[in-house]
Amino acid sequence: MPKNILEVKDLKKYFPIRSGFFSKPVAWVKAVDGVSFEMQQGEVLGLVGESGCGKTTLVNVLLKLEEPTSGKVFFDGLDLFNMDKKDLRRIRKHLQIVFQDPFWSLNPRLLIRDIVGEPIKVHTELGGEELVKRVGNLLEMVGLPRDGVYMYPHEFSGGERQRIAIARALALSPKLVVLDEPTSSIDILSQAQILELLKELKKSLGLTYILISHDLSVVSHMADRIAVMYLGKMVEYGPAEQVFSQAAHPYTQALFAAIPTLDTEGIDSIATIEGNVPSAINPPSGCRFHTRCPMAKDICSQKEPAMVRLGGGHTAACHFINQK
Ligand SMILES: Nc1ncnc2c1ncn2[C@@H]1O[C@H](COP(=O)(O)OP(=O)(O)OP(=O)(O)O)[C@@H](O)[C@H]1O
Ligand code: SF4
Ligand SMILES: [Mg+2]
Repeated sequence: MPKNILEVKDLKKYFPIRSGFFSKPVAWVKAVDGVSFEMQQGEVLGLVGESGCGKTTLVNVLLKLEEPTSGKVFFDGLDLFNMDKKDLRRIRKHLQIVFQDPFWSLNPRLLIRDIVGEPIKVHTELGGEELVKRVGNLLEMVGLPRDGVYMYPHEFSGGERQRIAIARALALSPKLVVLDEPTSSIDILSQAQILELLKELKKSLGLTYILISHDLSVVSHMADRIAVMYLGKMVEYGPAEQVFSQAAHPYTQALFAAIPTLDTEGIDSIATIEGNVPSAINPPSGCRFHTRCPMAKDICSQKEPAMVRLGGGHTAACHFINQK
C-alpha cells in the first residue's frame, strides 16, 4: 500500500487584526479553520475554491512559510511543527513551491546559474563547474537549453520563466511540490506545455503535487484527488473522477455548474457563483455556506455539518447528504 507522505490534522491559521502596530488583536481572520486530510506519495491533490477561501494560507503553513495557530502536520511521518533545526533543514529540501508569477519569483539581476543554483549552494557543497553542470542538467530536464545558465530571466518568455522556476524547485530533488496557480499568468499554449512537463516530471521523479488552480480544466487534467475549500474549511474531498462526476456538496456543485464543460480552458469560472464570499473575520454560523446555499434550511445556520463519508474515500460536509 502506498504510504502517506502528508497528514494534516485540524490545522488552523488565524491572522491577527490590530488597530495599532503594538496593540492587542481586535479580531482574527480565520483563514484556515480546522482542516484535515492525508496525501499518499505520488498523487496530485487539486485544491480549489473561490478567492480568499484559504488555499494559499493552507499551503504556506504546510511549507512552514507561516506559523500555524494550532493543529498538526506530519511529513513523511515526522512532526513538522515539533522538530529540531537540523531535521527541519533536511525536511525543507523535500518541500518546494512554484509560485503563480515567474516574473516576480525570479530575481531579475541574477543569472539563471545563480537563481537555479541558489538552493543547491545553500544545502550542498557543490560549487564552480560542478554547480554549473548541475544547473545545466536541471534546465535540460525542464526542456530548456543548457547554455541558459548564463542568461538573465528577462531573456526568456513567460512560459520559459515558469520552466526556470520549476527547475529551481526541483534542484534539491524534493518529494512534495506545491504549485500555486502555476499556469495562470502565462499564455494558453505555454500553459498546456507546462502541464505536460509537470506530468512528465511527476512520473519520472516520483513527485507528489498539491495543485492550486481557479481553472477547473487544469485541475481535472492533473489531479487524482480534489479538495474543495470554502471560507477556511474543507467542504468536500475525494477521488477526482468521483468529485467531478458526483459532486456532493452544494458549494462544489455550484462551482462546477458555473462552467459549461470542464474542457473549456482558461475560464475563471469560480468567480461566477452568486454573491460574495463572506468575511473570514466573522464567518457565518453553522454551515459557513448557508448565506449563499440554495438548499439551506433552519438547521444550517445553527449547526456546523460534520464530514460525511460517501464511500471510496469521498467525503463532504453538509446536513443533507446521506451517509454510506
Ligand atoms: N498575512 C495576512 N494577514 C491577514 N490576513 C491574511 C493574510 N494572508 C491572507 N489573509 C486572509 O486570509 C484569507 C485567506 O487568504 P488566502 O490568500 O489564503 O486565500 P486563497 O484561497 O489563496 O485566495 P486566492 O484564490 O485569491 O489566491 C483571506 O481572507 C485573506 O484576506
Ligand atoms: S449544510 Fe445546509 S447550507 Fe450547508 S451546504 Fe448543506 S444545505 Fe447548504
Ligand atoms: Mg492564493
